[in-house]
Amino acid sequence: MRYYFVLIIALFFLSTLGAQEEANNNHQKKETGKTFAPGDNLKNPFTDKISSALDGKIIFIQNCASCHGNEGLGNGPAGASLIPKADNLTSDEIAKRSDGEVFLNISDGASGVMIPWKFILSENQRWHLVDYIRQLRENQNSGVLK
Ligand code: HEC
Repeated sequence: MRYYFVLIIALFFLSTLGAQEEANNNHQKKETGKTFAPGDNLKNPFTDKISSALDGKIIFIQNCASCHGNEGLGNGPAGASLIPKADNLTSDEIAKRSDGEVFLNISDGASGVMIPWKFILSENQRWHLVDYIRQLRENQNSGVLK
């Protein structure tokens, strides 16, 4: 009986925390006029983008290029027959997302077709991939395909 009581108190406490967080979020939304996506509050730990993207490139070739293609255009040999198709990672849509959101996209996988990479790649490896995905878009825009 006593345990139920403790549990109810704990649940009540958690629900007030959730409401508090939502209130903060709404408040921020009002201040900046921006909506927040999951992951927006995560901070990319790498500031040297060139070196981070270089590390990301190796991880990308080994784990992602088969579906997303070497240039990230979504045209890898294993990706062609998938439903849905592997995304073009150089798209405006992905470019608009924060680093943290893309980090979560990679971590959590998508549509049951792309596995959640958080079980396979370390956090640092996933951030390197975010930096490499940014680099792929720059390459695409400047016409340099590496
Ligand atoms: C088995 C093929 C496959 C592999 C390997 C793969 N992906 Fe994907 N990926 C997909 C498919 C398919 C989608 C699109 C899912 C959808 O449209 O809902 C996707 C979507 C994504 C997205 C967008 C997800 C979203 O929620 O919008 C990102 C970012 C991404 N992949 C990055 C990566 C990275 C980085 C790797 C390597 C670690 C990788 N993918 C490896 C198939 C793959």
